[in-house]
Amino acid sequence: MKVLVTGATGFTGSRVVPLLLQSGYQVRCLTRATSDRAPLSALTVEWVTGDLSNPETLAAALRGVDALVNIASLGFGHADSILRSAKEAGVRRAIFISTTAIFTQLNAGSKSVRLAAEEAIQASGLDYTILRPTMIYGSPRDRNMWRLIRLLRLTPVMPIFGDGESLQQPIFVDDVAQAVLRALQTDATIGKSYNIAGKAPLAYNQVIDTVASALGRRVWKLHLPYMPIVRILQFTEQIRLRLPIKAEQVLRLNENKAFSNEEAQRDFGFSPRGFEEGIRTEISNIQ
Ligand SMILES: NC(=O)c1ccc[n+]([C@@H]2O[C@H](COP(=O)([O-])OP(=O)(O)OC[C@H]3O[C@@H](n4cnc5c(N)ncnc54)[C@H](OP(=O)(O)O)[C@@H]3O)[C@@H](O)[C@H]2O)c1
Repeated sequence: MKVLVTGATGFTGSRVVPLLLQSGYQVRCLTRATSDRAPLSALTVEWVTGDLSNPETLAAALRGVDALVNIASLGFGHADSILRSAKEAGVRRAIFISTTAIFTQLNAGSKSVRLAAEEAIQASGLDYTILRPTMIYGSPRDRNMWRLIRLLRLTPVMPIFGDGESLQQPIFVDDVAQAVLRALQTDATIGKSYNIAGKAPLAYNQVIDTVASALGRRVWKLHLPYMPIVRILQFTEQIRLRLPIKAEQVLRLNENKAFSNEEAQRDFGFSPRGFEEGIRTEISNIQ
C-alpha cells in the first residue's frame, strides 16, 4: 500500500514515516523545495517536490497512492485544495492531523481556519480519520518541553504565570506516530475524529516538578499573577516589540487542557505513555 505523507520532514512527520515503512507501507513524501530532508535521509522513501499552497503539485503527488497522511498543519487554509486534489486523484482514505487547540475558549487566530478545515474534511465524502493531538513533545524539535528542560537546567527558580493548577496532558511524539499507524490500519476509525492525549492529565505545577525530578534538580516555583503579565505582553505586541512569549501563550497555559482517550482506546487500542516516562525518555535521548 502506498501512502503520501505531507509534513514528513517536521517534528512529528519524521517519526511517522519510519513507522509506516517498518509496517510495510511504501511512502511518498511531499516536501517543499526548501525542506530539509536530512531527518529522513537514511530511509527509502519516494520524494516529490511540491507545496500545499500549489494544488497542481499536490495533485501530481497524490497520483497513484492508496492513502494520504496529512501531517502538515491545517491552520494555513489548504484543506479545501487538499480535499479536492485527493478526490480528483481517486484517493479515498485519508488521515488528517488536527489539534485539540480547536477547543480553546480563546479567540486564537488560527482556530476558525482549523475548525473550517475539520468541517470540510467531515463533509468531504472521503474515508477520513481526524486525529487531534494535545501538545506534542519528545525531542529537541518539540519547541515546548525542550525549552522547559533547558530552562530548568539553567535555573532553580521557575517563574509561573498563574497558580499552575490548570491541567495539561502532553502527548509523546511516538504515541502520535502510533496513533497515525493504528488509525490507518483500522477501518473502524473511518469517518471519525479523535482527541489523542498523554495517559493522564496533570497540573502545570506537576509538569514542572516532573521535569525537574527527571533532571535530578530542585526547583522553586515562583507564582506570579498572570493577567497583569498578559496586559503587558498585549501592549508590547501592539507596539511590535518582540518578546520570547506571547500573551496568548500565557492565557493558553492557564486553560485546562485535559482530554479523554476513551474513544481512541476503544476503536484502535490507543495506549499512550504517561508524562513521567515520556519526559525521562526525552531527557535520556538528548544526554
Ligand atoms: N507540535 C505540537 O505541539 C502540536 C500539537 C497539536 C497538533 N499539532 C499538529 O501536528 C502536526 C505536526 O506538527 P509538528 O509540530 O510536527 O510540525 P512541524 O515540525 O512544524 O512540521 C511541519 C511540516 O509541515 C510542512 N509544511 C508546512 N507548510 C507546508 C506547505 N505549504 N507545503 C508542504 N509542506 C508544508 C513542513 O515542511 P518544511 O520542512 O518545508 O518546513 C514540515 O515538514 C501539525 O498539523 C500541527 O498543527 C502539533
